Amino acid sequence: MKGRLFWKIFTAFCLVFSAQLAGLWTLFVVLERNHPYWADNLERYAAPRLEQMAAAIITHEGPQAIPAGLLNGPMTTLVIVPEGSRAPAGVRATTTQATAPDGRRWRIFYRLPRKFDKASIAPPLIFYLSGIVSGLIFAAILGLYLSLPIRALREGLDRFSRGDLGVRLASRMGRRRDEIADLARDFDGMAEKVEQLVLSRSQLIDDMSHELRSPLARLQLAIALARQKPEGAVTALDRIEQEARRLDAMAGSLLTLSRLESASASPEHFVHLRALIEDILADVRFESEAKNVRIDLSRHASMPEGFHADVTGDAELLRRAFENVLRNALRFSPSGSVIGVTLSEEPERIVVTIEDEGPGVAPDQIARLFEPFHRGEGETGGFGLGLAIAQRAVIVHEGSIEAENRAQGGLRVRITLPARWEEAAALS
Ligand SMILES: Nc1ncnc2c1ncn2[C@@H]1O[C@H](COP(=O)(O)OP(=O)(O)OP(=O)(O)O)[C@@H](O)[C@H]1O
Ligand SMILES: [Mg+2]
Repeated sequence: MKGRLFWKIFTAFCLVFSAQLAGLWTLFVVLERNHPYWADNLERYAAPRLEQMAAAIITHEGPQAIPAGLLNGPMTTLVIVPEGSRAPAGVRATTTQATAPDGRRWRIFYRLPRKFDKASIAPPLIFYLSGIVSGLIFAAILGLYLSLPIRALREGLDRFSRGDLGVRLASRMGRRRDEIADLARDFDGMAEKVEQLVLSRSQLIDDMSHELRSPLARLQLAIALARQKPEGAVTALDRIEQEARRLDAMAGSLLTLSRLESASASPEHFVHLRALIEDILADVRFESEAKNVRIDLSRHASMPEGFHADVTGDAELLRRAFENVLRNALRFSPSGSVIGVTLSEEPERIVVTIEDEGPGVAPDQIARLFEPFHRGEGETGGFGLGLAIAQRAVIVHEGSIEAENRAQGGLRVRITLPARWEEAAALS
């Protein structure tokens, strides 16, 4: 029975129960006493009979034989005075008299009960006691009902804060279906997310350390070579510069990814997606022409002529996302093939599809495509960060990105973003 909650509930229940019982009692007494029927009956019927009864007792046995209850009862009070004394105050007018066996004469009066008699209005002690006992029983039941799951929640939070990220609480709530069980479920959801975040972070650090090894090893090798053969120093320096540039690029990508991981920004600028994509295409056109790859930008038949495909967001982030997907497509496109970029509209969303005619991705690798540092077999060109950055950037914009192999070969990447053309139209 420890715990502050229990005592609070207990005190509250005791007070409420006792006050209710005592209040009811007082109300009952006051209402009853005030009832005309009650007062009338007492005066008209009960009083004369009680007086007669007392007179009979005095006549046969004397005034000392009258039961104390008749003289001091809660409702009935008889007053006996010797003949010749004055009638006491607050009594019913009467002429009842009696002669005791010893010859003395007595007058008998009936004192009407006072309407608001303090003693009779005050609730008896038993009312308070039963208030306390019922308070205790209720508090015990409710206290256990509330404090047991709360204690389970506290234990879980405690374990979680000490690093046990696997702790889950919903299963400990039994068959409860209330706010406390909801809280436990919310906690589980939060714990799940935090656990995944921590795991993905540590995975990222593992991968990063691993990725740093090879360029660093190559750097050391180049330095050692330069030391051994000073005549080859220029080649070694070129190598060192190349590796340093690569490391710098990787650090840049990682920084972007890490910023995006913690970003929850809902950027406010309007971005004309179509103009943005045309801009990127102009950038990569030089490379695509060199590779003899054609890039077709088309819009779905349902889209109007002057369609801008407006979204809100950070143009720079969106550019990185689209550019990476496009550059991937270009990298894997064989000479003479076509890359198709299509803008289309779904209810409240804009969909951009980028399809190439390259080799596609091994089916078991599709799911891992967006993981940081994931690269295809024997792939040495990039770091495997591009699609991870693209995914984070799209998610920050409340969109989604998915990839699938096309039936006729090649990869199809679909990026969906919430459309904002109504707001954009209202602004322009
Ligand atoms: N269009 C595509 N066709 C076939 N495979 C692809 C395509 N796009 C991506 N991939 C595969 O997915 C992997 C991950 O792509 P991602 O863009 O994340 O990394 P990357 O291009 O290798 O390096 P980075 O973009 O960081 O320079 C690639 O290494 C490649 O194996
Ligand atoms: Mg890439």
